[in-house]
Amino acid sequence: MAAPVPPIDRERSAARIERDIETLAGPEFTVSSEAIRRYAYTPVYRNTLDYFTRALQELGFTVTEDPVGTLIARNRPPGEPVFGVGSHCDSNRNGGRYDGTMGVVTALEVCRLSAEHSLDLPLQLISFLEEEGSGFGQMLLGSRIMLQRVTEQELRESFRAIDDGRSFWEHAEEAGYEPARWQESIHALDDLTGWIEMHIEQARVLQDTGNRIGLVHTIAGYVHADVLVTGRGDHAGATPMDLRLDPTTVLAECVLELERLARATGQGTVGTVGEIEVDPGIINAIAAGVRFSLDIRGPVDDAYRGVADEIAAFAERAAAARGMTAQFRQRQTLPATPLDERIVDALDAAAAATGEPYMRMHSGAAHDTMCVADRVPSAMVFVPCVDGISHHPAEDADSADAALAAEIILGAIAALQG
Ligand code: GLV
Ligand code: MN
Ligand code: MN
Repeated sequence: MAAPVPPIDRERSAARIERDIETLAGPEFTVSSEAIRRYAYTPVYRNTLDYFTRALQELGFTVTEDPVGTLIARNRPPGEPVFGVGSHCDSNRNGGRYDGTMGVVTALEVCRLSAEHSLDLPLQLISFLEEEGSGFGQMLLGSRIMLQRVTEQELRESFRAIDDGRSFWEHAEEAGYEPARWQESIHALDDLTGWIEMHIEQARVLQDTGNRIGLVHTIAGYVHADVLVTGRGDHAGATPMDLRLDPTTVLAECVLELERLARATGQGTVGTVGEIEVDPGIINAIAAGVRFSLDIRGPVDDAYRGVADEIAAFAERAAAARGMTAQFRQRQTLPATPLDERIVDALDAAAAATGEPYMRMHSGAAHDTMCVADRVPSAMVFVPCVDGISHHPAEDADSADAALAAEIILGAIAALQG
């Protein structure tokens, strides 16, 4: 069915999106001038929520925050059905302007278009807290809290701030939230009849195929874990090579083995060692211990989970062969998430109506939609980002593509309402 929406002035939408993105890249909205760096409970994050709050209130939306700080704005009273749009506005610590923020800005544009074309669609915008894990090392934290995919013990004790080691609970309370009511966050989903998140692709499939829009049918699952290798600290000059218990050698073997396992497994499996902590990390001392992170993902659960099991066993064997020990500790995991066919079909019809090139695809990156989809029929729309670069200040995307995505999302929601 063609999207029952009037013609949209895409240039005007693109200009508004560009203005929002440009503003939110300013010094009030990032902790660092070298990258976009904003995360929960910092003043720059507060400023970002306030920016969206003002814009949504101008459209007549009622804006609230859940007990930990996820922003929820709606144009219908509680209890009435609404369609969800949104993403996250925190960033990777070494982030660019677009990951997350462009999705919230585009959702805001959908709300604007619905108002200015008198469509008055029933909408609820959500901007999730801590999607990137930049504050507490826990990816998708706001949506996992909402979907009750955390424990109270984790929130009170285990989840600790990267900056100062204090607990998530303490930080949330200090910022004026009520983490003791975290289980109530789920109610933000009570009235949702569907959910669409727009995001930059973060890969280069769209660019390489000349498509302006990707309609996501599956989001890759992941395992996040740490390996702790214990060796023996010693003098770097005075200790002969055959008398060392150097845990960095196990790290080196594991990095290469992870690459080999992911390549051999195929089926879209990828593996990354992103964090390395060497204790004590001194040029003239053999390390006593090493911690490194594992990020292992793919669209096929058995495939990437198999790699996680194999690298855990390999690390133990590699450490033992050198007289040391290695311990694998899982941080968190979510399965690959199929999205809702009816919503993807509605997006497909709305995309076809624009005459612009689009395709269906899977997402290699994780998104809050993985959690939302547990309860609400959900889909995602991707736009290209230059050379696929993301989680880096060089991230770049075109507001004209985001405007096209806003038009397609608006058309799909209008059709689904009809
Ligand atoms: C989310 O930012 C991810 O790392 O996939
Ligand atoms: Mn993101
Ligand atoms: Mn990200």
